[in-house]
Parts: sequence; C-alpha cells; structure tokens
Amino acid sequence: MKATVAYFSVTGRNEQVAAAIERELVDRGVTVERVFLKPKNNMGAVGSAVRSLFNRSVELDLPRLPEPADLLALVGPVYASSVCPPVATFLRSLSGLEGAKVINVVCGYNTHPEVIRTINGRLRALGSGPIVERTVRLKDIDSPDRVAALARGVVAEALA
Ligand SMILES: Cc1cc2nc3c(=O)[nH]c(=O)nc-3n(C[C@H](O)[C@H](O)[C@H](O)COP(=O)(O)O)c2cc1C
Repeated sequence: MKATVAYFSVTGRNEQVAAAIERELVDRGVTVERVFLKPKNNMGAVGSAVRSLFNRSVELDLPRLPEPADLLALVGPVYASSVCPPVATFLRSLSGLEGAKVINVVCGYNTHPEVIRTINGRLRALGSGPIVERTVRLKDIDSPDRVAALARGVVAEALA
C-alpha cells in the first residue's frame, strides 16, 4: 500500500503531526511519500493568513505532484478561519483521487469544523474514498505522546 503525507507548517506543529502519521503508516508496512507544501515565495505566517482572508492563492515549489497513492494524509494549519493557502493550492492542483482513503487534519488555536468541511468538499469532488477528519486544537497536542496518539487514531481509522 502507498500513501502520500502532504503538509504545510511554519513553526513545526503540523510538521510534527505529519511526521507522526508517517511513522504510524510506516510501522504498518505502508510506503510513504512525505511532501512539504512549500510556497514558492516564503510569505511567512502573517502573509499566509492575509492571503487566506482574501482568498489569494500561492504558488507551490513542488518539483512534481506526488505519485497516485491509496491513501492521502493532508495536514495543515488554519489561518484566518480558512484553509491555509498552500493546502488550498495543492487541492486545486490534484486531478483525481480515484477512491483513495483520506486523512484530513487541520490544526489551530481552536477547532474549525467549517475548514474541515471545505477541504472535504474539494476532496469528495476529486473522487476521494472515505475521509477520516480531525480538527485539532494545538493545546490538545502539546506533547509528543499526544501527537502520537492523534496519529495512531487517524491511521487506525483510515486503515480499518
Ligand atoms: C496569522 C495567523 C492567523 C491564525 N488564524 C487562526 C485562526 O483563525 N484560527 C485558529 O484556530 N488558529 C489560527 N492560527 C493558529 C495557527 O493555526 C497555528 O499557528 C498553526 O496551526 C501552527 O502550525 P505550525 O506550527 O505547523 O506552523 C493563526 C496563526 C497565525 C500565525
């Protein structure tokens, strides 16, 4: 089984979640391609939030799109109550998911079900299979153990 773990992170919290999901998948024998959704021009967190607010997109510095996989794990921050621009651009660049399972994790100071719903809508339009979703407060993943527990939970659910 193959999985793509695509994530965006500025200060490292979402990166920790993505890395924990990758570890959990690898432990279960899944081949993982981890993809950092790197903006072409480093815009910083504030620039990113402003872009989210005004629905401006960013270009990504991705040499190529990830190989098609059986599972896509998407991890990214909430900015200005919106999908962060690198994740939004990535979702626009995908052509089809062909029934792939999806893990959709968004992290923020608060939970944001509306952001999860927006991302899920795009994933379903791309033909995703079942989606395991979590809107996570940073204070609920404030230790490596809690990050690992989150990763274990979403991976177990996605692979069940
Ligand atoms: C400019 C800015 C705007 C933000 N807006 C929100 C928000 O609307 N709601 C929320 O819950 N968190 C918000 N956050 C918190 C981010 O989601 C949080 O910093 C991010 O998940 C940390 O991830 P990272 O360490 O991977 O960069 C905001 C953060 C920044 C810097």
